[in-house]
Amino acid sequence: MTIANGRRVYIQEVSVRDGFQIEPTFIPTTDKVSLINSLSRSGLTKIEVTSFTSPKAIPALADAEAVMQQIERVPGVEYAALVPNVRGAERALSCDVDELNLVMSASATHNLANLRLQPEQSLAQFAEIVRLTQGRAHINASLSTAFGCPFEGDLPDDVVLDLVDRVVDMGIDRITLCDTTGMAHPVQVSRLCGAVRQRWPALGLTAHFHNTRAMGLPNVLAALEVGIVRFDSALGGLGGCPFAPGASGNVCTEDLVHMLQSMGYDTRVDLTALLSLANGLAQLVGHEVPGQVMKAGPSTRRYEVPPGVMNREPQLRFGGTASARPTLLV
Ligand code: COA
Ligand code: ZN
Repeated sequence: MTIANGRRVYIQEVSVRDGFQIEPTFIPTTDKVSLINSLSRSGLTKIEVTSFTSPKAIPALADAEAVMQQIERVPGVEYAALVPNVRGAERALSCDVDELNLVMSASATHNLANLRLQPEQSLAQFAEIVRLTQGRAHINASLSTAFGCPFEGDLPDDVVLDLVDRVVDMGIDRITLCDTTGMAHPVQVSRLCGAVRQRWPALGLTAHFHNTRAMGLPNVLAALEVGIVRFDSALGGLGGCPFAPGASGNVCTEDLVHMLQSMGYDTRVDLTALLSLANGLAQLVGHEVPGQVMKAGPSTRRYEVPPGVMNREPQLRFGGTASARPTLLV
């Protein structure tokens, strides 16, 4: 494994979009705004604030304009929003988002289920959005189900590479490969992300993993090995697409930051601040959340030694025969 050596890694928070979009209970706008404001001060590179989707499709984020207008914008933090079509782009631009995160799926079936569009129709919308944005915001293209689709199964790498090609040709210089339902495994991540990095080394490439099958962090490690330094993740491990059966939480931000910092990467994120926010999440969403470090504490956590342990004589156990070596009980 490559030595981290203080290498900079950029953490992009998606809990308030990917997380809240699937929550059955509507999170009040003021609570969203207050969480985003706190996240803004924790050292994260980018926050995906909301999505400008149809309120019928995603009622949980029907307050997109209000949230965008009420948050405090901390200099140095980018504020992004998910955009499914031209109408969404117009709404996002009217709120001065820093980045339009356009979305389409690599799998045609998931694109139809999620956006009711054929991939070609999505690509046409992307081109139209690039035209109407006229450089007023960054544009990122998120390719969902890039590592597998819950309807179609595995996708040939070429399908994804061709899509990247089409998107790059439009002048889009930021792309996210999304593992929407946690089907990716590290060998595949290494292969596909490695191929994209090799073909488009200057592309701003993000990896977006879900931990549905406990492969989220291993996939991050595989992506780091092929040079990816931008990761989407969600506080507490919230997340999931309502139009992808079996979808569940993103890689958990504080677990990811904890792992990267332990390994010597430079995330610039305040882990203590994140843990404190993560600890308030269960109350906000009304159920337990999957994050692990928030429960166990960071690996630097130390416990008091139980009374008497240090001055206790080591207890010796002898095997069945007189010649057996004594074993220290541990
Ligand atoms: N914002 C707000 N409303 C929108 C909209 C947008 N970006 N795009 C369409 N609408 C509205 C239309 O005005 C129309 O409203 P009406 O019923 O009151 O007339 C309604 O939505 C249907 O419009 P239509 O163009 O037929 O879209 P659709 O029903 O085929 O839905 C999407 C297409 C993309 C808007 C919808 O599927 C969607 O928002 N999906 C969200 C996907 C998502 O966020 N998934 C999770 C993250 S990957
Ligand atoms: Zn996702």
